[in-house]
Amino acid sequence: MAAALLTGCQSQQLLTLGDMSSAYNREILWMSIPAIALSIIIFVGVSWALFYTVRKFREENNDAPPAQFHGNNRLETILVVVPVIIVMLLSVLAVRSLARLNPVPQDAEKIDVLGKQFWWNFSYPGAPAAAGGNVTNGNELVLPTGKWASLTITSGDVIHAFWAPNLGGQRDATPGTQKTWQIQTDRAGVYQGNCNVLCGASHANMRFKVIALPPDRYNSFLTAAQAYRAPTPAPGSAEERGYTLFTQGKPSTGALACAACHRVQGTPANGQAGPDLSFFGTRRTLGAGMWEALTPQHWEAPQAAAELHAWIKNSPAQKPGSLMPPYDGSTYTLNGKTMKAGLLTDEEINDIAAYLRSLRLPEEADYWRDVPVIGANNTTIAQGGNP
Ligand code: CUA
Repeated sequence: MAAALLTGCQSQQLLTLGDMSSAYNREILWMSIPAIALSIIIFVGVSWALFYTVRKFREENNDAPPAQFHGNNRLETILVVVPVIIVMLLSVLAVRSLARLNPVPQDAEKIDVLGKQFWWNFSYPGAPAAAGGNVTNGNELVLPTGKWASLTITSGDVIHAFWAPNLGGQRDATPGTQKTWQIQTDRAGVYQGNCNVLCGASHANMRFKVIALPPDRYNSFLTAAQAYRAPTPAPGSAEERGYTLFTQGKPSTGALACAACHRVQGTPANGQAGPDLSFFGTRRTLGAGMWEALTPQHWEAPQAAAELHAWIKNSPAQKPGSLMPPYDGSTYTLNGKTMKAGLLTDEEINDIAAYLRSLRLPEEADYWRDVPVIGANNTTIAQGGNP
């Protein structure tokens, strides 16, 4: 009780008790009621028996040995049968809940979840993009409310675990295997998620958001995401210079092309090693949830723009273990090998940032717009404080 009270007051992020918006939490709550009731009955019963016995059989002159009840078959039978009945009762309740939660409904929204050190990709196999491939988003999982989402969870390297506490328990993301899991919520909102198995230096920085939208909003997101093609930057603009650096790098200084690792829908950039950046400008999180902003425009605020700049310039310095190479000419270690980073000027890094910010879904498909953030306590670099 102390743990529940002490952790619950300040951080609602992990306090899911009584949150009835998701099917998992409802089942857990309904199962908890008989379990807690039984525990109270047992606690009161045992306490009563203890005090009664101590009082009734108190030995005034401490000389005679106490009466023995070894071999009392009736008592021993009761002490075995009663716990077995209790355990069976709880098992029946648990199996009933699993039977309700486990079947994948036919009309479930199918989403592929890929965990890697240290970020997540969410791909929609039922939503092919007009520009090729499927709709994919990095670190921000968009779902419809009132409908089951069937997640197929795997890992591209080590064992991770997908965990959005307000939506239910966790599922391991294990390389070489695919686990399915269903989540559902009735309440629109931005939910916090985190990897929940120690997976390396930035395990705690392997966060994600689940954004549950009412069905009509979800459909307009998915439709726009399927039709999306990255805009062609205006000639001579910062975005155009950024696009060139993004797709070609800068071979003269050894700066690798971002496109080697990142995909941007509707461009030749089709790298698979890093998070999909197709809708980077619509996203409100950076570095797999390490930083977040109130609106896409907030990334242009000086402090936030500085963070994005610092991230591109040297992401391992911001996030230990990040596999994105620095672009500041420093030496860095990758897979035990010491490497020399390529070099981009600050202006060139700003050009790439400008290009990334221009990768936006149309306004009506901005999935963060007007959706309440449930239990936010991440560092927010944008002006205006925690969303
Ligand atoms: Cu991935 Cu911890």
